[in-house]
Amino acid sequence: MANQLLKGKKGIIFGALDEKSIAWITAIRCFDEGAQLVLTNAPVALRMGEINKLAEQVQAPVIPCDVSNNEDVDKLIDQAMAHFGGGFDFILHSIGMSLNVRKGKHYTEIDYGFNAKTLDISSMSLHRVLASCMKKDAINDWGSVVALTYIAAQRVFPDYNEMADAKSLLESVARSFGYHYGVKKHVRVNTISQSPTRTTAGSGVKGFDGFISYAEKMSPLGNASAADCANYCVAMFSDLTRMVTMQNLFHDGGFSFTGVTQAVIEQMEK
Ligand SMILES: NC(=O)c1ccc[n+]([C@@H]2O[C@H](COP(=O)([O-])OP(=O)(O)OC[C@H]3O[C@@H](n4cnc5c(N)ncnc54)[C@H](O)[C@@H]3O)[C@@H](O)[C@H]2O)c1
Repeated sequence: MANQLLKGKKGIIFGALDEKSIAWITAIRCFDEGAQLVLTNAPVALRMGEINKLAEQVQAPVIPCDVSNNEDVDKLIDQAMAHFGGGFDFILHSIGMSLNVRKGKHYTEIDYGFNAKTLDISSMSLHRVLASCMKKDAINDWGSVVALTYIAAQRVFPDYNEMADAKSLLESVARSFGYHYGVKKHVRVNTISQSPTRTTAGSGVKGFDGFISYAEKMSPLGNASAADCANYCVAMFSDLTRMVTMQNLFHDGGFSFTGVTQAVIEQMEK
């Protein structure tokens, strides 16, 4: 169902790890809609080599970048501009990493050193990327930046641990930077708050199976898939959504505004 919605547009996709990654599926959708792409991920993730398959499919170079490193980010933006022959039009920030979750630390007993790294990678990285782009005037007028988030930023999901705080900060950076980049260059910055999705990052959340089926039952439309999310990203990168900025956009089949559903009531009555 390609409509060339992104014909002539150029963008950077962060975070394609394997074929389940939301970024992977979005890269393919963007390519099918006519976009030219640069792919990037942390050097350690690139060592798996999986991304080369995607790079071939979407005809994009792969540029390593650890988003917690200023130099890496600056180099990525320079190399992307060299590849595109100037500025570009969109960015997908699809990055999440919790060191405390990895180390099995409970939220009430987190290590603050790990926590600082979590916030740096998962949240402030959006600031770092946007600051580098602004400094280099890398994003074209009316460009669009999307970062992926989760509703644990607004409501408590105990096992989401410190990532809840990371997502709150990410959404705040999107709003704050969205203001400045909007005024300066009409660049829009939004977050998409996605349903739980079976990916490497998603499955890192404790009790994920229960979590995903609860969300499915609590959403009038059911959970949004990674493919649905990719479609939404395409819409956000296109010129059809030019006046949308500084928003946290729920993409969750209605979960965020549902109090209870018949399916959950029936489950409770069992
Ligand atoms: N899967 C879900 O249930 C779900 C729900 C809502 C939001 N999200 C968000 O979607 C985004 C993408 O996650 P996903 O589910 O596709 O999982 P994923 O594991 O495929 O993607 C996470 C990516 O972050 C990258 N990353 C980690 N540290 C990095 C660093 N230092 N520098 C650069 N990249 C780094 C990883 O290499 C990986 O590619 C994340 O922000 C995640 O929090 C996921």
